[in-house]
Amino acid sequence: MERVCVFGAGACYNNMFTKSFASDGMEVVRLFDDMSEDMHWSPDIYKQNPTLPTKTLFCIGYRQMQHRLKRFRELQAAGMEWCSWTSPKSCISEMATIGNGCLIDSLANIGHRAVIGDASYVNLSTVVGHDSTIGQGCYLAGLIILNGFTKIGDAVFIGSGSVIREYTTIGSGSVIGQGSNVIHDIPPNVLVYGNPARIIREISPNDKIFG
Ligand SMILES: CC(C)(COP(=O)(O)OP(=O)(O)OC[C@H]1O[C@@H](n2cnc3c(N)ncnc32)[C@H](O)[C@@H]1OP(=O)(O)O)[C@@H](O)C(=O)NCCC(=O)NCCS
Repeated sequence: MERVCVFGAGACYNNMFTKSFASDGMEVVRLFDDMSEDMHWSPDIYKQNPTLPTKTLFCIGYRQMQHRLKRFRELQAAGMEWCSWTSPKSCISEMATIGNGCLIDSLANIGHRAVIGDASYVNLSTVVGHDSTIGQGCYLAGLIILNGFTKIGDAVFIGSGSVIREYTTIGSGSVIGQGSNVIHDIPPNVLVYGNPARIIREISPNDKIFG
């Protein structure tokens, strides 16, 4: 039986994924039940616990996605093997590319030639349009529509129900508030929301916007 490991995404996500994996015939091993414990985690845990599974799933929590992306890169550097999980109820073009450590949730639709970067999470019913590129460690909440040829940087959070116009670029580290209608390019590290989406303010590295 294949073993996957779920950690650091909070009880809600852990329960959800436990059920999903169990229905796929996988054995799920939990490392942590609480997001905060993830903060103390390091690749050394695998060296100390050789029985832990090597196929590890990285649950992205939007509050800590930058932290998690850093952890993902540390794991990669330590030579860990990563798998992605794509819901059997998602729809992924054969021409799309899904990175390592990604989660593609139910009813998500990944279009032709779209690229999903490592450790990114595409949540329920979100559409990633054809020829779009999603960076690493992004969190795309539910019911988002990214039209074709959009380009999303690393560690970008996009709130639920947002619509991103075709050919739009969103810079790394930016946050798009829920229900936004993004029709212009967005620079890195800013908070935007509204219809049409406007820049509200810059986001500093220690910003508490993610909790
Ligand atoms: C953008 C966001 C992070 C801002 O959070 P925040 O800084 O705590 O903002 P606040 O709730 O303090 O709101 C501040 C002001 O901005 C406005 N505002 C906040 N988010 C907004 C949005 N998405 N669209 C329009 N206005 C918004 C509020 O109305 C408020 O204005 P007011 O003071 O006149 O009432 C948050 O609103 C958001 O969109 N979160 C994403 C939710 C989501 O999609 N989660 C998915 C989980 S799977």
